[in-house]
Amino acid sequence: MSDPAAISPPASVTPIRIFDTTLRDGEQAPGCSLTIDEKRVVARALGRLHVDIIEAGFPAASTGDWDAVRTIADEAHSWDRAPVLCGLARCNARDIDAAASALRGAPRWRIHTFLATSDVHLQYKLQMTREQVLRRVDEMVRLAASHTADVEFSPEDASRSDPAFLHEVLHVAIAAGATTLNIPDTVGYAVPEEYGAMIGRIVREVVGARDVVVSTHCHDDLGLAVANSLAGVRAGARQVECTINGLGERAGNASLEEVVMALRTRRAAYGADTGIVTEEIGRVSRLVARTTGVRVPPNKAIVGANAFAHEAGIHQDGILKHRATYEIMSAETVGLEGARLVLGKHSGRHALRVHLAERGHVLEENDFEQVFERFKAVADRKKVVDDRELEAIVAAAGEYSATGWHLELVQVSTGTHAIPTATVRLARGDGHQVTAAAHGDGPVDAVCRAIDDCVQLPTALVEFTVDAAAEGINAVGGVTVRLRDIVPDGEAAQVASGFGVHTDIITAAAEAYVAAVNALMRARARASRRVESPALAEATA
Ligand code: KIV
Ligand code: ZN
Repeated sequence: MSDPAAISPPASVTPIRIFDTTLRDGEQAPGCSLTIDEKRVVARALGRLHVDIIEAGFPAASTGDWDAVRTIADEAHSWDRAPVLCGLARCNARDIDAAASALRGAPRWRIHTFLATSDVHLQYKLQMTREQVLRRVDEMVRLAASHTADVEFSPEDASRSDPAFLHEVLHVAIAAGATTLNIPDTVGYAVPEEYGAMIGRIVREVVGARDVVVSTHCHDDLGLAVANSLAGVRAGARQVECTINGLGERAGNASLEEVVMALRTRRAAYGADTGIVTEEIGRVSRLVARTTGVRVPPNKAIVGANAFAHEAGIHQDGILKHRATYEIMSAETVGLEGARLVLGKHSGRHALRVHLAERGHVLEENDFEQVFERFKAVADRKKVVDDRELEAIVAAAGEYSATGWHLELVQVSTGTHAIPTATVRLARGDGHQVTAAAHGDGPVDAVCRAIDDCVQLPTALVEFTVDAAAEGINAVGGVTVRLRDIVPDGEAAQVASGFGVHTDIITAAAEAYVAAVNALMRARARASRRVESPALAEATA
């Protein structure tokens, strides 16, 4: 459908940089931790979306983070179009050096350093005076600038800071070499008029602010993150920090897809737009939901399952007469429609490989073989395989190849007059096999209990969701399972998720459960290694 902005384009459209922090602020959300391989896949998808900057992680936080940032930075050379790769660092030399050492291999890279400026943070968290903060910002931004010309500085909790002090800190950061000033509403406290006014004052009053990029970074505690970000753009911000599906700690961050589509759909009103390839939005949203296990609610703007569904009769009638009556943008614009896979059960490896590559999936041999096998099994049962089903199969491939347990067999007996009973056989890479049988309240419950008996890992089920990957009674089913481990009082429990896909929903559930168990074991191992790693120590020595 036609874009209203195209009818009356503004005289000049200001480009807005999209800084994606799904892999840093998003991944910080409880239970969202991703493996390096998952991060690589998400980073590549963000590259295809044409985000301008990817914040790939917080290198000093752990060996896993440092390795992930380094791997993505090194790989970015082989992408068609590499965005700026960024790493977060507290305002101290160890963090800044860790970020530099992880990012150095990237085609273009940025260090993002931050220090709180609100009195409540200074007094209770940092125990620093304002003078000490000013000195630290000066020294650490200079250190970051000695590594790279692209330095971003964030005054954490900016929206609750004394404006005069905030301006002073920002001025020091610019003088020390910061090229982007990011203004976080860390606790999601601001409202749009206030946030916009704060950005406007910074742009107008801080000496040197017009020569750098001012950026928004808004959290959604009051449901205002997108509105605040847009108010920031209207007031002169030229970069928006956001995450796919609005992922992030607590209520999350500003949602990338909402910011981007608000600017695209109302380009005339804002006189601004981004370079995002909006047709990739649906795909990357599904990928992030699957890899993190955080589902997208059906009524979520832009990417929810109902975002383009018209139920009311009066709306349907209007849509049939003219789509513009009730639609302000089309599902195709955000990649939620179309694209049927034309491969069928006679298609071979080559055709599948080419098809996957065209969609940006370059798989390692093992993963490709698993995808091919699963694709054939689905194609044997169905005539047409939807692109979204293939995506689900690809998403699950990484889970199957993960180290840990592997589902060898699942068998279920159930019915209206039977006690649901399941038998499962699991195997480990070292050849060790275990079989167990269990009863349950239903067939899925019986399968999960049998798996619990095999792996002997105390866990609690946090979430179990089933989705059809596409429409139709024979669509491939995707199951997401989130588990929390049960630990003694005082120890931090880990949460991890697994994804399974199959035309048989019980098998998909069993695969998802096993994948979640494996992810939980990896998360536990990572947590116990969170002490200083040799790789990180060497890098920052
Ligand atoms: O919300 C926040 O303040 C942050 C900073 C580290 C930029 O995420
Ligand atoms: Zn944040």
